[in-house]
Amino acid sequence: MSLYDNIGLKYNAVKYTPWGRLELFNFKKHIQPLLTKPNTNVLDLGCGTGFYTELLAEWGATTVTAVDVSTTMLAGAKARIRNSRYASIVEFFQRDGLKPTVYGPKPQSYDLIAGVWFLNYAKDFKELVCMFSTIRKNLRHGGVFVGVCMHPVEDVYNFIIHHNSKVWAMTGLEDIYQDRLPGDAGFVFKAVFHPPKDVRFGQTIEFEAYHLKKSLYEAAARLAGLQGNLEWQHCEFPDNLRGELGLNFDALDVQFFVVK
Ligand SMILES: C[S@@+](CC[C@H](N)C(=O)[O-])C[C@H]1O[C@@H](n2cnc3c(N)ncnc32)[C@H](O)[C@@H]1O
Repeated sequence: MSLYDNIGLKYNAVKYTPWGRLELFNFKKHIQPLLTKPNTNVLDLGCGTGFYTELLAEWGATTVTAVDVSTTMLAGAKARIRNSRYASIVEFFQRDGLKPTVYGPKPQSYDLIAGVWFLNYAKDFKELVCMFSTIRKNLRHGGVFVGVCMHPVEDVYNFIIHHNSKVWAMTGLEDIYQDRLPGDAGFVFKAVFHPPKDVRFGQTIEFEAYHLKKSLYEAAARLAGLQGNLEWQHCEFPDNLRGELGLNFDALDVQFFVVK
């Protein structure tokens, strides 16, 4: 039984928060240009209810392989795609991304791998290496992994005490930091999403995940054998959303992780 089996389709509410729109804006900005080439086969790790699985197909993927450990989340993804025009190009696997598995017809079959809030389910360095090994086994030479992760900081405690949780709350996300992880690896945090009240999925959604320090991500990617450029991209806050929320400063600090 996975944590997300109790969440299932309720998770879709997250995408209706301003925070969800911020995530979409930034993920699209980084991944869509990589989908313009013909024959782009994409692996979507931690696909959840298939929100991005469908969009990856819409944005130009030739095929999408969607993987999630949770039966309930995957059932939501299957239902979404079954009712879309992409049913013939998407396949699903219920698998644990911590167990490095080859998904394509042969190792390293994918041009592009997406992991939107996937790596933050590694609770320590060892699990992070396992997740990057899954990526490594499936990413073709010269391919790109694009992940969405927690803020890349070396001192997570210092980040927690200084980051502006009020701003995040305005986007619909309350992040509550909990226990420190062994070996100073980072912290457990709880994400609590408050969807707008006028949305039909209007329940609060909660789940726990891990915020590991930046150097562990970088070292794990290398140890798993990813050798290309490794870039942390800043989250851009589009003007319309900034205006809507009444924000008058720049710093929102979700980051995007790109390995080529
Ligand atoms: C926050 S949701 C994100 C879903 C989707 N990527 C999105 O952005 O809409 C995280 C997803 O990762 C999945 N997940 C967590 N740990 C996993 C693992 N070890 N292997 C595969 N999927 C995992 C969860 O079941 C959940 O569906």
